[in-house]
Amino acid sequence: MDWGMKNRISRIIKPSTGRTVMLAVDHGYFLGPTTGLEEPRKTIEPLLPHADTLMLTRGVLRKCVDPQTDVPIVLRVSGGTSVLRDDLSNEGLTVSMNDALRLNVAGVALSIFVGAVNERETLLNLAGLVNEGEEHGVPVLAVTAVGKEMARDARYLGLASRIAAELGAHVVKTYYCEDFEKVVRACPVPVVIAGGKKIPEKDALELSYNAVKRGAAGVDMGRNIFQSENPVAMIKAVREVVHNNATPSQALDLFKTLSTQKKTA
Ligand code: R5P
Repeated sequence: MDWGMKNRISRIIKPSTGRTVMLAVDHGYFLGPTTGLEEPRKTIEPLLPHADTLMLTRGVLRKCVDPQTDVPIVLRVSGGTSVLRDDLSNEGLTVSMNDALRLNVAGVALSIFVGAVNERETLLNLAGLVNEGEEHGVPVLAVTAVGKEMARDARYLGLASRIAAELGAHVVKTYYCEDFEKVVRACPVPVVIAGGKKIPEKDALELSYNAVKRGAAGVDMGRNIFQSENPVAMIKAVREVVHNNATPSQALDLFKTLSTQKKTA
């Protein structure tokens, strides 16, 4: 692996802990104005100082993030479908590697849809993107998108994550599940988890804790941060779990304390 690739990966996954808190705000690429992300700049700005990496699309990056930021960017480069359609797996690549490089990204991300109608196309998209990434020293994060018909269990997520790694993904983003350690064990590259739909803060902190305890290199979390009643307190609490091994109850205490401080400030 060349220097540029290693350097970019170390900007995404912090070498001091081997972990990362990625803030995912790319939902609009197929969901449109997702709750909490109606005005991306307003959501992103207060959270940015607390994120190790920001995951988003080209359009929102250009218009809603100041180019002076030193937070590494993981750019979503797949899309082409909307929530109005049944064939969400019908994604193609949306950004050229040249433009990603011009945007000075630390990495690029795309979804793969293992077991779906367009499985082959999305896996070949991944392989092609890895070829280009290798040429330019840009790591690829593969997101294992899960169709409604797929079970979010260790067997399926392990299969999808392993295929992503076999095709050359440098980091895999998947979901937490029972026996998650089996998913991590069978995947030879770092695995981060998505947060999924909004759940109570206590449960999201427990999810993060269980994931890192069972081998995840961190989280790539969106809705459970930006839809929280106090997003900044939540991202700080998640950081405590991911980087400082705080227990869920310690992290929840921190969340509550920070939330109270905000109310009384
Ligand atoms: C989904 O396709 C997007 O890539 C999101 O970034 C991902 O699901 C993580 O966000 P959340 O924690 O809200 O699930």
